[in-house]
Amino acid sequence: MVLGGSWFLGRTVAETAVQGGWHVTVFRRGRPESGAAPDGVEVVHGHYGDPMAMRRLTERGPFDLVVDNLAYTPRETLAAAQVLEPVAARYVVVSSVSAYEGWPTQPLTEDSPTLPCSATAGPEPGYNGDPAPTTYGFGKAGCEVAVLETFGRERAVIARPGVILGPGEYVGRTAWWLNRMRRGGNVVAPQPADRAIQPVDVRDVASFVLSAPPGTFNVTGDGSDTFADFIHACREAAPAPDGTEVHWVHPRILLAHHVKQWTGLPLWRTHAGAWAVDSSRARAAGLTTRPIVETVRDTAAWLADGGHLVASDRASELGITPEEEAAILAGHRRVLRAR
Ligand SMILES: NC(=O)c1ccc[n+]([C@@H]2O[C@H](COP(=O)([O-])OP(=O)(O)OC[C@H]3O[C@@H](n4cnc5c(N)ncnc54)[C@H](OP(=O)(O)O)[C@@H]3O)[C@@H](O)[C@H]2O)c1
Repeated sequence: MVLGGSWFLGRTVAETAVQGGWHVTVFRRGRPESGAAPDGVEVVHGHYGDPMAMRRLTERGPFDLVVDNLAYTPRETLAAAQVLEPVAARYVVVSSVSAYEGWPTQPLTEDSPTLPCSATAGPEPGYNGDPAPTTYGFGKAGCEVAVLETFGRERAVIARPGVILGPGEYVGRTAWWLNRMRRGGNVVAPQPADRAIQPVDVRDVASFVLSAPPGTFNVTGDGSDTFADFIHACREAAPAPDGTEVHWVHPRILLAHHVKQWTGLPLWRTHAGAWAVDSSRARAAGLTTRPIVETVRDTAAWLADGGHLVASDRASELGITPEEEAAILAGHRRVLRAR
């Protein structure tokens, strides 16, 4: 049973499960703009927050596995978990590294403290700080509590992915860089080029959640890719025209030009903990992650094949304009000349 399964991670979980020979049911509201569930699944329409819809779902059981992609509001997740508990052997709650108190400022393991949030909290619990915590993170932490309380440590899987990329990535982070490379010319990229980054491919998250044993797991890249690997992969996959030049600009200059972290230059973040999430526990439990070059190449192929981004507020926040980029480059060159 995949709760939410037509868009990005949920869809990939459903698709991977079908390929693996599972009998898959997808639960969603059925909004056309959320895309189509993959071939080979049964679709049940309903709203996650509607107890009656969740109750009807139990008639489809018993389920070997529930993968919950809809866990944002703890009390909804608590209700869903309680209704499904008698008919589900195992329950995966897709949480996030945002559930940690220390994200993105500190290195994290699964034992790092999570944000305080009760299993009965309503929508958007907690508060938004700068850069964190977020109501999203508080909500995820509360949803984790809800699933743990209901299924216990023996039957609950808490998956905490970092940023997920790959085919279907509707936010448009990779797409922005691919488009930028396709335009060519002088491209601004954030120093240090050799900073290790940990995006995780959606297909690797999907495979892991389908096979993970009970427990709590960070699901991130292993840190063997760098920002330069990502940028060069985008350059190749776009492909960028001849003569394209990438300029690695100091963060101080980017910040002086008010480039927003995370969105202004997608994936750029200076905070020490942003890419310091330990995923060794998940790896010991079977997580394997592919190199970022493969993720970028396959995302470009998905876009070329008609894959489309979802128009959302998040997508419109992405990127810098050509004028902003030119001003940053001028500042960068002034600093180089002054040396
Ligand atoms: N993307 C990332 O980088 C990232 C990182 C960490 C964690 N995560 C987590 O990954 C999970 C999956 O996210 P995703 O964005 O990839 O989405 P997804 O699960 O692929 O797509 C969302 C699905 O949920 C359905 N849906 C939405 N609201 C619903 C509701 N109230 N009731 C029933 N169905 C509903 C949508 O279809 P309908 O509109 O038809 O209902 C759609 O099928 C989320 O929990 C997210 O927090 C994502």
